[in-house]
Amino acid sequence: MPEPLGVIGAGWVGLVTAACFADLGHDVVVRDVAPERIAELEAGRVPIYEPGLAELIDRNRDRLRFTLDPEEVFAAARIAFVCVPTPPTYTGEADLSAVERVLDELPELAERAILVMKSTVPVGTGERLRFRLDSRSLAHVGYVSNPEFLAEGTALRDFIHPDRVVIGAFDETDGNAVAALYEPIDAPVVRADVASAEMIKLASNAFLATKISFINEISNVCEETGADVSVVAGGMGLDRRIGSLFLRPGIGYSGSCLPKDVSALKQLAGNSGYHFQLLTAVIEVNELQKRRVMGKLTKHLGGLRGKTIAILGLAFKPNTNDLRDAPSLILAPRLLAEGAEVRGWDPVALEEARAIMRGVDLRSTLLDAVTGADAAVIVTEWDELRDLAKPEIRDAMRNPLIIDGRNLLDPDTVRAAGFTYESMGRASSDLRALPETEEPDPEPELQT
Ligand code: UDX
Repeated sequence: MPEPLGVIGAGWVGLVTAACFADLGHDVVVRDVAPERIAELEAGRVPIYEPGLAELIDRNRDRLRFTLDPEEVFAAARIAFVCVPTPPTYTGEADLSAVERVLDELPELAERAILVMKSTVPVGTGERLRFRLDSRSLAHVGYVSNPEFLAEGTALRDFIHPDRVVIGAFDETDGNAVAALYEPIDAPVVRADVASAEMIKLASNAFLATKISFINEISNVCEETGADVSVVAGGMGLDRRIGSLFLRPGIGYSGSCLPKDVSALKQLAGNSGYHFQLLTAVIEVNELQKRRVMGKLTKHLGGLRGKTIAILGLAFKPNTNDLRDAPSLILAPRLLAEGAEVRGWDPVALEEARAIMRGVDLRSTLLDAVTGADAAVIVTEWDELRDLAKPEIRDAMRNPLIIDGRNLLDPDTVRAAGFTYESMGRASSDLRALPETEEPDPEPELQT
């Protein structure tokens, strides 16, 4: 009989973890501090968008319980996963107040229990929390670091088929207990000390961000030199030492993890007296990259005052309604500041956008968003945008200009469909994309 588990924090990581372990046969008690969230979950509604998650929760309803009461977690389970947010503070460090609160709210525990940290925390946090537990006579509460590597949109698959499971423990028996939970999953298990486990997570995300900023800079140089970044990335990726993943150029990395973890690692290094020069550049490149679309728009439209620009895709990536750090949130105010009228469309994130994208005219259909627009900017590579370059869209736009911030479309097809097209690191349309003129007759050869 699989052992009962607790999950503290019913956010995206917590719900995915709870649903996946429930699906492996565990009874799981999920605790959150937000009454409305617990009420929604109890009523059978899943408050976040992740493909397959609502169905998985529904299928395992009998094994999942939702509660506001921290005592219920430990009444039912010996092992509890901590999945609370660790957002960046204004200096870029991780705010650990939700983690501290978990410790503060631990009930009296007569028997040994284990806290398993899934939230991303700075290196050294485990050591500090271990000390706090010990000094509060909670030496019998074990502490294990088990960072999550789930990506939004593919989280369920990532949970069942991870590249690796990382387990960092102070006490080997605690580590074994957590490792046993992952036995049904076929993946290498990395056993480590707590600080190294914490660093594996931060360093992995920082490296992924570095790969993206690198290819974005190559993409920018391709634009200057006439090379095609798609061909270049394809050729680079075949080298097994480089690998083909995370070499897609675009308008910068964003989301809930990469930006926060890169800053946290840079800050952590700085606080330890080490200036992490490379990460400083990775962050700067990413910030500049988010703004590159502006240059592409003005290249074709001149001043943007009074122009209507449709932002297509608001979520930070497809298959999520997450807007955290999304490029749309940078682009929209820039366009508004230039005097443009800004429209927004997204297949799932409209409701979330309504709460924060002030001044943006949000439209619920793609056609509605581009009708009368001077340019359509692809910000998120939603599948729904793959056939954007069709006559219906071209005829609806005031000016058939597509700026593809994700290299989602094929340049030849889009241009053949009568659009002016700009993407990232690939040949751009000539200014104004004049209709093809016949080649002039070659100069007559000089007779000698
Ligand atoms: C990431 C990590 O992948 C995951 O392991 C960690 O647990 C959380 O952070 P996520 O934020 O869900 O996951 O998204 P991911 O798919 O990694 O993409 C992050 C950002 O990088 C997105 O903005 C995406 O558009 C961008 N990206 C990704 C690129 O610009 N180019 C690429 O080649 C890959």
